[in-house]
Amino acid sequence: METIHTVAWMQEVATEALRQDRVLGFVPTMGALHEGHLSLVREARKRCSPVVVSIFVNPTQFGPSEDFKKYPRALEADREVLAKLDVDYLFAPAPEEIYPPGFRTFVNVDGLSERFEGRVRPGHFRGVATVVLKLFEIVKPRLAFFGRKDAQQVRILQQMISDLNVSAEIVVCPIVREQDGLALSSRNSYLSSNERRAATALYRSLEAVRREVSQGERDAVRLLAELRKVLDTEPCVSPDYAELVDADTFEPVRSLRKTSYVLLAARVGATRLIDNALIEQEGETFRVTV
Ligand code: PAJ
Repeated sequence: METIHTVAWMQEVATEALRQDRVLGFVPTMGALHEGHLSLVREARKRCSPVVVSIFVNPTQFGPSEDFKKYPRALEADREVLAKLDVDYLFAPAPEEIYPPGFRTFVNVDGLSERFEGRVRPGHFRGVATVVLKLFEIVKPRLAFFGRKDAQQVRILQQMISDLNVSAEIVVCPIVREQDGLALSSRNSYLSSNERRAATALYRSLEAVRREVSQGERDAVRLLAELRKVLDTEPCVSPDYAELVDADTFEPVRSLRKTSYVLLAARVGATRLIDNALIEQEGETFRVTV
């Protein structure tokens, strides 16, 4: 595996892969890699060559009071796991490479970016869309791999790709969870042992929705009431939002659509966690994927 630190060299490698008509697969990350990230890398490895993974803790997607400074960084350990997974290139640029002095262009996906995560974290998705478009221009992927864990992020990036005629195609990968259901996240490392135990309430609340849907419940108010019941059992878990939305518009809906998400964000102690369930209509029934 070769580690690349500059935009110029990464672009040269990418241009050569493009010229040879190779299927370049790209996995953008902020590092501190866990099995969630690695599942994307494995999928990319299966389908693409070469495989490029980026590690860049993107300052523009963190709010002024957020955890940019204390966000976990583990470049050496990350490099070792990626080499073992047979990744071809690790792209790890310095902040000045991506945001040189005088930088002043941003991408904003209107409407989709202001709700849910965007409401709680103003400017977050503007930072995400901007850095991902830049990374796409630098790495020039045919396929780019993202996790359904960040469902709103995926939806926004799909809109950006379509609106701006970006040639990359997004592959959405399933949520990887701990044995007890907690979705893997770099921020799980902030949890105390008591919070870690309580944090499973997010997963358990989505499982409650799954149970209700399998028993025929279709109504948003009743589904979300069951979800809240589970969250309410944990005093250190306080929900930011819990909503049933149409998977395309991300507008709240009153009952299940052809494709919907239950979106969930909660503070567990001082740590903010997100999770979701995908609900798809199959004939007369609905399938819930947690
Ligand atoms: P990061 O949080 O490092 O996540 C990188 C990718 O890993 C994202 O596509 C995310 O959805 C996926 N991922 C995280 N946890 C996962 C899990 N438990 N199961 C499956 N996939 C998971 O998302 C970002 O970085 C940034 O916003 C980025 C896109 C890199 C732009 O800066």
